[in-house]
Amino acid sequence: MNEIILRVRELKKNFNRRLVFDKLNFEVKSGERLVITGKNGSGKSTLLKILAGVLTESSGSVEYILNQKKIDRENIYQIIGLVSPYLVLYDEFSAFENLSLFAKIRNLKISDDEINKILTRVGLLERKNDLLRTYSSGMKQRIKYASAILHNPLILLIDEPTSNLDIEGKNFVEDLILNFREDGFVIIATNESQDFKYGNRIINLDEYKNNKNK
Ligand SMILES: Nc1ncnc2c1ncn2[C@@H]1O[C@H](COP(=O)(O)OP(=O)(O)O)[C@@H](O)[C@H]1O
Ligand SMILES: [Mg+2]
Repeated sequence: MNEIILRVRELKKNFNRRLVFDKLNFEVKSGERLVITGKNGSGKSTLLKILAGVLTESSGSVEYILNQKKIDRENIYQIIGLVSPYLVLYDEFSAFENLSLFAKIRNLKISDDEINKILTRVGLLERKNDLLRTYSSGMKQRIKYASAILHNPLILLIDEPTSNLDIEGKNFVEDLILNFREDGFVIIATNESQDFKYGNRIINLDEYKNNKNK
């Protein structure tokens, strides 16, 4: 079985003079589910973007170690699935085309059948040929989940897991998180207390500001 470790050391992020967080240290390993919480603007989305490799830290380090080998930063996208409000979907393409495009960008060989299976899992098979611009925000959120799990990632990073989802969508998310592959881990950023149950550990970013944010 794989063992994956995320090691965050002395992580700091500022945007010009605004400090978002500082001296952040934690580790996450296979089998864990970590919740990141904190007020609006505390840096949850910023942290997830850094962990996903789409934003760079100001100082400190983020390392992913798979079976005792450090993974190069440019390859981490292959083992990470990201669900985020900042993720861009293509409104003028259908759901099926969005997923197929996502697979191509990741250089994955995925059959139409597999895409259909994932669309079934997120409950959107019948709507697969509709353009994304005709989708509701909850349906788009489901497509973000579909694109995040398409490549069977070891790591799921989920920013605002249940935003826009109905009960059925929330049940899907709960099942996905609680039954995620045992050799992987999940990090969930949220300030909804009803989402805290998804984690077995919690980090509050409000505790990582040693300066005033002004
Ligand atoms: N691209 C950016 N440029 C400048 N400031 C930013 C940028 N992105 C985020 N911030 C600031 O960083 C802080 C943390 O934002 P964010 O990570 O979105 O918080 P959260 O997700 O916890 O609500 C906020 O003060 C926000 O204004
Ligand atoms: Mg956010």
